[in-house]
Amino acid sequence: MSLNLDLRQRAMLQEMHVKVWWPLTRDVEAQPTMLPTALAQPSATAAVVAPEQAIAPQPQHAGATPRRANALPQMTGLPSAVPAETGVTPRSADLQRLDWRGLQQAVADCRACALSQGRSHTVFGIGGLAPQAMERPPVADWLIVGEAPGEQEDLSGEPFVGPAGQLLDNMLHAIGLDRHRQSAPGDDAALQTAQGCFIANVLKCRPPANRNPEAGEVAQCLPLLQRQIELLQPKIILALGRFAAQTLLQDSVPDVHGIPLGKLRGQVHQYRGIPVVVTYHPAYLLRALGDKAKAWADLCLAVQVRQDAG
Ligand code: URA
Repeated sequence: MSLNLDLRQRAMLQEMHVKVWWPLTRDVEAQPTMLPTALAQPSATAAVVAPEQAIAPQPQHAGATPRRANALPQMTGLPSAVPAETGVTPRSADLQRLDWRGLQQAVADCRACALSQGRSHTVFGIGGLAPQAMERPPVADWLIVGEAPGEQEDLSGEPFVGPAGQLLDNMLHAIGLDRHRQSAPGDDAALQTAQGCFIANVLKCRPPANRNPEAGEVAQCLPLLQRQIELLQPKIILALGRFAAQTLLQDSVPDVHGIPLGKLRGQVHQYRGIPVVVTYHPAYLLRALGDKAKAWADLCLAVQVRQDAG
């Protein structure tokens, strides 16, 4: 992926409080120096935009927003690969049998924990280039993993639709990713060359009053995320915030629950052979404007990792 920035991407970086130092021209030769500069000198990316120019909050939703094309549709009546005794999360062994559509259905049917009782919608995830068949997962080299749906996500069924989502979209746009980019039907070349991104959460249901996820809830939901990753086969995972990082790295980083997020940043971790880069959660960045430059450094690291992987 190129980090040549057009004017729109520069505007987004400005919104992230990231000063853009490199030339305006689309100069391919300039790329190799860009990433190391951003990574080695985070202070050079200090805030240059006044806080009041930060991203404006989205208008409050009066009710449910229309679902996006790739958000989980209501799938009543669809044949399901989930065992007949739905109402609980299928065991991991059962999940192994599920294709993308079956997994969507399993999430929609999940009653494994009490969060299911208070939800308006499950939030499966969104993004990626559209494959030919719904059974196949979308094409997405990038997987972005957040924590859990909030109020607006619970109402809409789509992850990251509130103010934090707006910032996330701007961050992703700045590196050329767009959750809404779709390939044309039959456009195999586009599917092979373009890099989609899929956005999901550790939890598929909203915790009440946006409290932190509980360990039992994460444990119940994790097999669903794991199957999503197995089917998507992303080339890189960007973990947003502490819960995503701890959940994805619990098998590879000893005592990960005791390590502050800041210490998990700036290095490349692994989730079952897939590189993982950790960054701040966009909701935190809305409050901690000074850390947006660090988040930009994290994105640059992720882009570099993705490029290095070929
Ligand atoms: N925060 C998250 O972690 N995920 C969402 O979908 C929304 C807010």
